[in-house]
Amino acid sequence: MQTKLVIGGERRDGSEGDTVDVLNPANGELVATVAAGSVDDMLAACDVASEAQKSWAATAPRVRAELLRGCYQVMIDNADALADIIVAEHGKPKADALGEIAYGAEFFRWNSEEAVRLQGTVGMNPAGNARMIVHHPPVGVVLMVTPWNFPAAMITRKIAPALAAGNACVIKPAKETPLTALALADLFENEVGLPAGLVNMVTTKSASKPVAAAMDHNAIRMVSFTGSTEVGRILLQQASGRVLKTAMELGGNAPFIVFADADLDAAVEGALAAKMRHSAETCTAANRFFVEESVMDEFGEKLAAAMGAMKVGDGTAEGTQVGPLINQDAVDNVDRLVTAAVAGGATALSGGSPMDGPGFFYPPTVLAGVSPANPITSEEIFGPVAPLIGFSDEDDMIAMANDTEMGLIGYVFTEDLAKGLRVSEQIQAGIIGLNRGVASDPAAPFGGMKQSGVGREGASEGIYEFCETQYIATNW
Ligand code: SIN
Repeated sequence: MQTKLVIGGERRDGSEGDTVDVLNPANGELVATVAAGSVDDMLAACDVASEAQKSWAATAPRVRAELLRGCYQVMIDNADALADIIVAEHGKPKADALGEIAYGAEFFRWNSEEAVRLQGTVGMNPAGNARMIVHHPPVGVVLMVTPWNFPAAMITRKIAPALAAGNACVIKPAKETPLTALALADLFENEVGLPAGLVNMVTTKSASKPVAAAMDHNAIRMVSFTGSTEVGRILLQQASGRVLKTAMELGGNAPFIVFADADLDAAVEGALAAKMRHSAETCTAANRFFVEESVMDEFGEKLAAAMGAMKVGDGTAEGTQVGPLINQDAVDNVDRLVTAAVAGGATALSGGSPMDGPGFFYPPTVLAGVSPANPITSEEIFGPVAPLIGFSDEDDMIAMANDTEMGLIGYVFTEDLAKGLRVSEQIQAGIIGLNRGVASDPAAPFGGMKQSGVGREGASEGIYEFCETQYIATNW
């Protein structure tokens, strides 16, 4: 297993000798000890990225595209081994880990196709005496700070469009899950032939100083972050120091709306996907279920039966559908929210308290009769708990659904498409799943409104996030 920093073509120990222990959340055992970088290591990565970026930006888009296509293929060819690493360090079931590799690889395939289609414009000025040329050069070197919930896909979602546009990357992977990131960097350099210095990986013990130092480095022109809104706010403040470009994929508090006319079995299936995908540790996870009163009992029973029947366990075990949470703090946080909800009058229809160790397990839990004012409706749960809130009036429900500072995604289930579209358009979120429990797709714009983020990843516009816009005024 690759456990060193990746700086240029080198595999290094941290210059101060620091390390990070990666634990398996299913049993608390040590998976590997990984080199942790210092401020100097981070600055060294920025230096080599700056050098590598110059020739990469001058490389023909077709050549860049072929290399990115190679990154897609190498992930597919090594899917099983990469998924095993994800399961060991994150804990998610093997099937979810394989799904993540396919999803993560797709960002390369999509952006290999976009690399040769980066377009500008040429137009006449309004006065009719000059031409206006607009094109999109790469930003330069991009600092990327990535989360532990998708150890592969949240990295490829950023580096694929960044590389396609001609940038180099300095990545700080999450210290809980650096092994997948390091394995990917090795595959891209050693198997695909991606030039050294384009994908640098600096795991750190504590992020704040190395990340702040990188943001002060002359070469860094952009910071791209996926993680909590709390950390995103800090990075946005730091980015203001050198007026860096920012792309922020932050927290969510997704409403999942079930109208009485919905196909309830389809809604339960959608709820399982929206809530439980990747062990319920996603920003897109349904966080609040608004269910029309007349179908509340039936939906609650069906959902509790389905969630209660899910097999919880070690992600390597055959048939596991829900893995452990990432660590004990995550279990304690879920427990705190569930305890407060029950104290506020909610009833657990399934689950409701942490499971015995070893490992950091919490059972799939459905809570009926949750008060809209309870903290569980305003905090991101990031665990397998579905709080149900009844509604009888559409406008009141929409007001409750929008009563949050977050706006990443919402889900609407109804058989009435006109109503579904009407409600979707009123939900303040960057993404809506209309009769769909999973909306994420590399070909679609992913990102939030309000405090859920800045910018969009994926789709055709995703590559432009990693570009500047230059206008050349000319007399032709
Ligand atoms: C996330 O949880 O941050 C991303 C989820 C997704 O890409 O579907």
